[in-house]
Amino acid sequence: MSKTAKIAILGFGTVGSGTVEVFYKNKSAYEKSTGQIFDIKYILDMRDFPDSPYADKLVKDFDIIVDDPEVTVVAELIGGNTFAYDYVKRALSAGKCVVTSNKELVAAKGAELLKIAREKNVNFFFEASVGGGIPIIRPLQQCLMSDQIISIAGILNGTTNYILTKMLKEGAEFPEVLAKAQELGYAERDPEADVSGGDACCKICILASLAFGQHVYPQDVYTAGITSITKEDAEYASSWGGVIKLIASAKKLEGLPPEARRLEIIVSPMFVPFESQLSGVDDVFNAILVKGEATGEVVFYGRGAGKFPTASAVVADILNALKSRDSAKKLSWEDSGHDDYVINYKSQKHRFYLRLNNANKASVKKLFGEVNFLNRKNEPENEIAFITPEISGGELEEKCKNLKISGKMPVLEL
Ligand code: HSE
Repeated sequence: MSKTAKIAILGFGTVGSGTVEVFYKNKSAYEKSTGQIFDIKYILDMRDFPDSPYADKLVKDFDIIVDDPEVTVVAELIGGNTFAYDYVKRALSAGKCVVTSNKELVAAKGAELLKIAREKNVNFFFEASVGGGIPIIRPLQQCLMSDQIISIAGILNGTTNYILTKMLKEGAEFPEVLAKAQELGYAERDPEADVSGGDACCKICILASLAFGQHVYPQDVYTAGITSITKEDAEYASSWGGVIKLIASAKKLEGLPPEARRLEIIVSPMFVPFESQLSGVDDVFNAILVKGEATGEVVFYGRGAGKFPTASAVVADILNALKSRDSAKKLSWEDSGHDDYVINYKSQKHRFYLRLNNANKASVKKLFGEVNFLNRKNEPENEIAFITPEISGGELEEKCKNLKISGKMPVLEL
């Protein structure tokens, strides 16, 4: 057998400890199938874990790792954009392969980090950054590379899907379900990133960057979270023939050559019709629907968050990096070079669900034209809910200026 390949784990939190556990549980099987010997040499964390069976591997100083030529793969599982960015950059620059579950980092700095990885001929993998245990990055990059991707739409956040399922289907209250999602290891350290849509936004940015070849930055994407969704909205959705889901979607505008490509990207709760495969995706599960010109629709489904699903994706990346450490696999995209690569969502037309108070059907018709009125059990007299005809976000905003709106979201088009 060849000499032992040494791995360093950065961050011993939920995903970090899961990664170490999964790695040692299956270590001998990995070695048998690859003919290599692997070991984790360091675990970096600022906290002390005196009772951990891995206490002898714990270090607090990143220099020890980056300066150790024996370490060939670094798994960054700290999260965020500060220390993680610095460590990943330094590890790649030192010629080490890096794998990460950090969507915030890849969404903000992916183009730059991939460039360093290319220059150093090392791998930078991030399968665990999107969809937890669902293989999506590698399939998108390798299996669908023969095709032109038209659109991607998905449920990309396990925490909010779990919360919406428990609240809208089982009548649970938001604070309790959020606490449960935290206890189950689904939520981010700051769950605001989940409920605000920010986490799903980072993930759709990564998928869109990979699928369309140019970096999409989170700040360019219209993002709305789930905090204003109520049971009443869900009842209207059901009477319309669907459910409410937090959807992240990206599609290229038709008819433009690659050099003038523009993307429409949005993260928002949406009315999802029962006919859509996304409507039946509940609890912590995620699903990603990729539409290709030749392939048609392909759906990826699985557990989108949680210690072990995410850890399994990290370990798979570690093994891939170790197997191909002398031949960097091409996972890349470029900076777009123009500010309007992502178009303003307000300029695009959608159908919208609206729930108004103090309005009447005649005034609604006058303002919006032929709408589809919705009903729910015991609806108050002054409450009107309906689906608008296709209208741009900007026009809708203009029309809604003087209305008292209790609920508003786009309809997912199939
Ligand atoms: N907080 C994330 C989620 C974790 O709930 O989807 C997985 O990225």
